[in-house]
Amino acid sequence: MSGIRSTGRLHLGNYYGALKNYVKMQESYNCFFFVADLHSLTTHPKPQEFHRGVRTILAEYLAAGLDPEKSALFIQSDIPEVSELFVLLNMIAYKGELERTASFKEKIRQHPENINAGLLTYPVLMAADILIHRANLVPVGKDQEQHLEVARVLARRFNTFYGIDLFPEPKAFNFNEELIKIPGLDGSGKMGKSEGNGIYLSDDPKTIRKKVMRAVTDSGPTQPFSKMPDTIENLFQLLKVVSDSSTVEHFTSEYNNCSIRYGDLKKVLAEEIIKVTTPIKERIDQIYHDNNYLSQALKIGTEKARESAQSTLKEVKRAVGFNNSPL
Ligand code: TRP
Repeated sequence: MSGIRSTGRLHLGNYYGALKNYVKMQESYNCFFFVADLHSLTTHPKPQEFHRGVRTILAEYLAAGLDPEKSALFIQSDIPEVSELFVLLNMIAYKGELERTASFKEKIRQHPENINAGLLTYPVLMAADILIHRANLVPVGKDQEQHLEVARVLARRFNTFYGIDLFPEPKAFNFNEELIKIPGLDGSGKMGKSEGNGIYLSDDPKTIRKKVMRAVTDSGPTQPFSKMPDTIENLFQLLKVVSDSSTVEHFTSEYNNCSIRYGDLKKVLAEEIIKVTTPIKERIDQIYHDNNYLSQALKIGTEKARESAQSTLKEVKRAVGFNNSPL
């Protein structure tokens, strides 16, 4: 199972950290992928840009290779059962534990003018997304581990509270590899939309070159085999993701013998990024404008997701005591 970004443009971080895994995952699992549009309302987008954002994400998923016949692709708000489960889970989620999540604290710091209740209960809604399909595995990056922990706590608590074994405890999934983390261009640990340190698939080649050339470096190593500072290691890590191993080896040995010129490394890095992003970008644009394809994909996905959600919600309601439910 699972789902994804709310809105915001696709950057290399989500492309490599997430989308690539989803595409692999659909080959061997029963997958649900969705656009978390309810979550995105926490930041108060304007309706127009909200709509465009949802459509863009769908186009991106499909362009990256999600197959609507293999996995269920849908929009979160099209599954009302999610909101219903969210209400019920809120009753067993405690204010203190939600206030302690790092993402909530971070939002308070970044947007003190908009600390809405939806931000506080963001992890509960995310738990509802996951638990509504009784998912075992959730392909998320490191930054979502704490949210996943909330989903596990709520699953366990619900089961214990009502004395049933309804929800499995969802775990992060990454094909047994380390969770991939794409670093930012500014020496920070993570490429992300909020940090403004990312390369977007919608960036044109000129912008990509400019961003890469501007990435923070230093004056270079003076001792052979020195340990890399974070800023340099990040560039190498990006290079590893987008180019072949001989290119990485070339620059690694230059680093190790202190002959490296970061300008050269950045030039190669920028071109390699452009090479991988251009074809994907073209596919995204094409799918974005293909109403038929988009609506057909959503139709199949929404049906699958609702069926799965309804079957879970029925059991949830029975457990809680809504015995007269028409469901
Ligand atoms: N919080 C996730 C993120 O920022 C997005 C998300 C919402 C999600 N609901 C989810 C991810 C359910 C996995 C499962 O990336």
